[in-house]
Amino acid sequence: MEIREETLADAKPIRVLHDAAFDSPLESVLVDVLRARHKLLGSLVAEDEGRVVGHIAFSQMVCPAADEARLACLAPLGVDPAYQRRGVGSMLIQRGVSEMRELGFDAVFVLGDPMYYLKFGFKPAEPFGVTNRFGGGEAWMVFAWDESVLDKLSGEVAYEPEFVMFDGMAAEEEKPPRPESPKDLL
Ligand SMILES: CC(C)(COP(=O)(O)OP(=O)(O)OC[C@H]1O[C@@H](n2cnc3c(N)ncnc32)[C@H](O)[C@@H]1OP(=O)(O)O)[C@@H](O)C(=O)NCCC(=O)NCCS
Repeated sequence: MEIREETLADAKPIRVLHDAAFDSPLESVLVDVLRARHKLLGSLVAEDEGRVVGHIAFSQMVCPAADEARLACLAPLGVDPAYQRRGVGSMLIQRGVSEMRELGFDAVFVLGDPMYYLKFGFKPAEPFGVTNRFGGGEAWMVFAWDESVLDKLSGEVAYEPEFVMFDGMAAEEEKPPRPESPKDLL
């Protein structure tokens, strides 16, 4: 199993992978749109015998009350159903989060299953006084290497607008249009 940066050739396998992992086209189109708009800060794949079996993406978040803080969002993370519970997701999170640190980010936020992310050092974000527009309660979590940075944050931490657009589609059970070419995404 190899964890590596995505290449152009991975775009289609990543799409197929998220469609299978999430049983919905929303996440894969979100990744395509973020990529086309150069908003992927990090995008790693897990490859096994030439096949993409996992993918993790990171994009930027902004806290208007502390806009000097460098904040990242982990989403989406997907593992091929045939490869789940074999440590692939763990490897992607660990490599991806340490890559965010190397890039100079202060914290990584995620909306996900607490049973899963707490294993990797993520903590509930609400006690730090930060929210996001999607809510999430205990599913809204943060990881920071130096938690003093979180004391400077307050109020809402904003996702890239593409997340808001896709959340609206999910709420209305709309199927996002499957783009034919990258320029359709711009
Ligand atoms: C959630 C997901 C990414 C986990 O990936 P994975 O490669 O199966 O996870 P790992 O094998 O690295 O699991 C690590 C640990 O978490 C546990 N775990 C795995 N999936 C879990 C889940 N959904 N809930 C709680 N614990 C989970 C494993 O049992 C393992 O525990 P252990 O270390 O005590 O043995 C994968 O199941 C997936 O793609 N699911 C569908 C898409 C999705 O929900 N993505 C998450 C978006 S936030």
